[in-house]
Amino acid sequence: MDPQGNATSSLGIDKRTLTQTVYDILVNDEPAQSLVIPGVRQNLDIIPSNPSLAGAEVELVDFNERAYRLRDAIDEIGASYDLIIIDCPPSLGLLTINALSSATVVVVPIQCEYLALEGLGQLIATIDLVKRSLNPDLDVAGVLMTMYDARTRLSAHVVEEVRRFFPQRIFTTIVPRSIRLAEAPSYGQSIGEYDSGSRGAAAYEQFADEVVSRLHIAAPNLAHVTAPLEPSSVTAG
Ligand SMILES: Nc1ncnc2c1ncn2[C@@H]1O[C@H](COP(=O)(O)OP(=O)(O)OP(=O)(O)O)[C@@H](O)[C@H]1O
Ligand SMILES: [Mg+2]
Repeated sequence: MDPQGNATSSLGIDKRTLTQTVYDILVNDEPAQSLVIPGVRQNLDIIPSNPSLAGAEVELVDFNERAYRLRDAIDEIGASYDLIIIDCPPSLGLLTINALSSATVVVVPIQCEYLALEGLGQLIATIDLVKRSLNPDLDVAGVLMTMYDARTRLSAHVVEEVRRFFPQRIFTTIVPRSIRLAEAPSYGQSIGEYDSGSRGAAAYEQFADEVVSRLHIAAPNLAHVTAPLEPSSVTAG
């Protein structure tokens, strides 16, 4: 759901050559199934995005039920999947509202930088509003701290602040700032593919495990979903 299409390109799909994207589901009533690119990895399909999706932010305004366009699409195909991960844009417009209206849980990644905290309050207010008005099932699974730099006081300070506000919600895993994590998307690879021995890969393995255990609590019907990788004891540092 992000017109930047980073999830698409990070899986090695050339977003410039796509003739159709999630935009066509939202705006042109294309069936969701027709936009699925199957098997981009083992057990992973994707509905792609590219900058053409940006137009939907404006065009959807005139639709009835404009907040539920994505949910209706997911209803068509959801039974075929254990988990659907929705990548959100960095703004709180109609695309994000569609994502929040469709989701069971939200994962909130926050960079360990001061300004990142400013957006957090607004995001939590939006999630509350969506929960009350559009999607009572919605819950925050947790806040994931990323880009942690052990050499700076700022990183530690931002983590402290978030922990103070969300003691129950902050994930134990903290993702370190890492060159390998920055490089992986430019090769169209996940960090597990690009450098499975790196600290970044270890952090994301541990994070995946944490998400799965929280999902079991938030959504007991997902109890059959298990983490694909061994949990690792490595965190930031
Ligand atoms: N822990 C990290 N260490 C170093 N670089 C990182 C790390 N995490 C992400 N990056 C790099 O920072 C850039 C932005 O990361 P990412 O796409 O995950 O952010 P985002 O929150 O989705 O941003 P946006 O909201 O704009 O979509 C990417 O180029 C990515 O490779
Ligand atoms: Mg992104």
